[in-house]
Amino acid sequence: DNPALIDTFGRVATDLRVSLTDRCNLRCTYCMPAEGLPWLPHEDVLTDDELLRLLRIAVERLGITDIRLTGGEPLLRRGLEELVGKISRLQPRPRLSMTTNGIGLAKRAAALKAAGLDRINVSLDTVDPETFARIARRDRLSHVLDGLAAARTAGLDPVKVNAVLLRGINEHEAPSLLRFCLDHGYHLRFIEQMPLDAQHGWNRAEMVTAEEILSWLRAEFTLTPSPDARGGAPAERWLVDGGPGDVGVIASVTRPFCAACDRTRLTADGAVRSCLFSNDETDLRGLLRGGADDEEVAKVWRMTMWGKLAGHEINDAGFAQPIRPMSAIGG
Ligand code: GTP
Ligand code: 5AD
Ligand code: SF4
Repeated sequence: DNPALIDTFGRVATDLRVSLTDRCNLRCTYCMPAEGLPWLPHEDVLTDDELLRLLRIAVERLGITDIRLTGGEPLLRRGLEELVGKISRLQPRPRLSMTTNGIGLAKRAAALKAAGLDRINVSLDTVDPETFARIARRDRLSHVLDGLAAARTAGLDPVKVNAVLLRGINEHEAPSLLRFCLDHGYHLRFIEQMPLDAQHGWNRAEMVTAEEILSWLRAEFTLTPSPDARGGAPAERWLVDGGPGDVGVIASVTRPFCAACDRTRLTADGAVRSCLFSNDETDLRGLLRGGADDEEVAKVWRMTMWGKLAGHEINDAGFAQPIRPMSAIGG
């Protein structure tokens, strides 16, 4: 009877990614169509009490030490600050982080920090307002930049920036994004685009690769491998011009890191996923609403993780995208 979330390959999940909502207030072209998606009906989304119960089970019985709040866009969750406060009071206290598009963060970063949020990752694919509007289909670059600044001022540490480069749109911006982040003390990571968009428009041949990004950066900066241990982190990191500034690349497609995966996931409607790309999900909401006790829920969560596959199959012939798009999984 092992209390941890271990799988048949010996990997142990200690990092839980929790999607708080599948809704978003941007419409990034690599994520969803202009009209948005058929959002989950309200009654399907876990209530705060249901969610807190699952998180308590995760830290008390399953060995979860790190919780990341994701979306859709997590800032759209009603009562987020209060929820963060309650999560940060769980025992043993999990390290608590969030991944956000930054819209509205300027006004809320200080309260989130005060409530117990430790650190934050913000999506920013460009520092050009017109390119931003083209990618996100909303003219909101200044909101995101203000949000980033507020996060740093509030003491969220580190502040990381996630950038997806798209061929022919912002691919030339790798050096300017890095310069911007170095100037402001943000830790930039470039992400290879994954086949998780709702429109199924991902194209391997068009994808900007980690190798390309690194070569564009090396034309202007000196990169040396970061001495920090990577652990289960998706990002491979380099010191820039000798440090302390750094840059990372999350090369899910060309350099998969599944063998070191330490993640488990919970969707906004209460399904456990053992992998970003898994198609078998286990519904916990039904168990909660059906009156199961904590240990029964824990057991089902352990069983789901035990069945985790070796890794994604993006590079295999016959790969099929998971049914849920990225925005409904939480990334
Ligand atoms: P930290 O390293 O803890 O700061 O978080 P993170 O970089 O894993 O989280 P974030 O939400 O910022 O995600 C950045 C990118 O990594 C997104 O594109 C995620 O979808 C991707 N990502 C996160 N976890 C995994 C994973 O387990 N597998 C794969 N393939 N991609 C992941
Ligand atoms: N592939 C890779 N990254 C993606 N993101 C959203 N969709 C994709 C995709 N298909 C990024 C977002 C955000 C993070 C959670 O994942 O830009 O920064
Ligand atoms: Fe883990 Fe799946 Fe991501 Fe691979 S694709 S790192 S197994 S979540």
